[in-house]
Amino acid sequence: MGLGRLRDVEKKDNILAIFIVIVVIIVLPSTILINYLGPFNKNFYYDPNYSDSLGQSLHSASNIPIGVAYSAFHSKYNQKFRNIVAYHFNSLTPENAMKMSFLWPGKDVYSWSEADLIVDFAERINATIHGHTLVWHSQVPQWVYSYSGTTEDWKNLLKTYVQTVVRHYKGRVQSWDVVNEAFEEDGFRDTIWYEKIGPTYIADAFRWVREVDPDAKLYYNDYGLCDDLIKLDYVLDFINSSILDGVPIDGIGFQAHIKYNDPDNATLINAINRVKALDIDLRISELDVRMNDDGNYDTFTYELSQLQKDYIEDFINIVLNYSKTTGITLWGVSDAESWHRMGGNLDWPLLFDESYKPKPAAFGFLNALKNN
Ligand code: XIL
Repeated sequence: MGLGRLRDVEKKDNILAIFIVIVVIIVLPSTILINYLGPFNKNFYYDPNYSDSLGQSLHSASNIPIGVAYSAFHSKYNQKFRNIVAYHFNSLTPENAMKMSFLWPGKDVYSWSEADLIVDFAERINATIHGHTLVWHSQVPQWVYSYSGTTEDWKNLLKTYVQTVVRHYKGRVQSWDVVNEAFEEDGFRDTIWYEKIGPTYIADAFRWVREVDPDAKLYYNDYGLCDDLIKLDYVLDFINSSILDGVPIDGIGFQAHIKYNDPDNATLINAINRVKALDIDLRISELDVRMNDDGNYDTFTYELSQLQKDYIEDFINIVLNYSKTTGITLWGVSDAESWHRMGGNLDWPLLFDESYKPKPAAFGFLNALKNN
């Protein structure tokens, strides 16, 4: 090889080396940094200067955590969603990601990534996490239905799941819905867990969780508790006698998927008084207020928006009147992604409209927080 040709090869090598150095030292780290911290991060980025017509954040007006159902699905690629969550809320409940069908795709397989992402986001915005939900009859993975075993086997299966999840999130999840929707109006709901283990699965679940994480607050969560006092009495009797037996139940969660005229104020006051009598913690765990249950409306009229505002303001005032109300969580950010919209239903149950602007209901909610 001639001298000239050798120099050419050396030159090419040098250029390649410089190129590699630039990529490794400058381009790669800055791309990673921008993606992780900057506006391109579809999981985490939010505008730290966000504010809206409410003039202050909801949680800043409250002594107790104000929460929202957080869906990894809705938050991805939706910075408006993340802006509102980061600004207004200081408690997150994973809307689906901590349900059994998401976390437990196979007997020996756990899938943490989506739920972990929500916990990471909560920590970035200084929000607490309310875990939802360890034992429920719905959103159970398909493989569980084909599992076969003795009562003891089923008990161990559920115990292993519950304790594995609680151990994974210990210290990062501050409270749990341990059991969700275990009762019909006046009796045990016939669920897979009831069928395979018997009624003791409820008390067992609370004990299993406490054993692994003694610091987490443990809740029984259900719907129909603030509008159906027969069901509420049944559930409270169960909770009361369980507590007397030493079962570690800290409180009750009212899901509160309600309508703007149901429960009326008197019924709600009665419901809260019954919880008061037991002196246990109360969370409003999944609040949304349907305006179009009968499908009568195809637009959200001014009148409806005012009805919703007044109703929510009263509701929150009554709920905050109890000193052991430990949190209020909305079941979603904007009407656009409410679970009540599934299947093509039209409704406007939340505090922010489809364009992520605060609705009159948000002002009613804020008024009540400021009032207490
Ligand atoms: C709902 C979610 O919002 C939906 O996205 C999902 O498809 C079904 O579950 N009671 C509960 C919540 O405890 O977990 C439910 O959430 C709503 C009713």
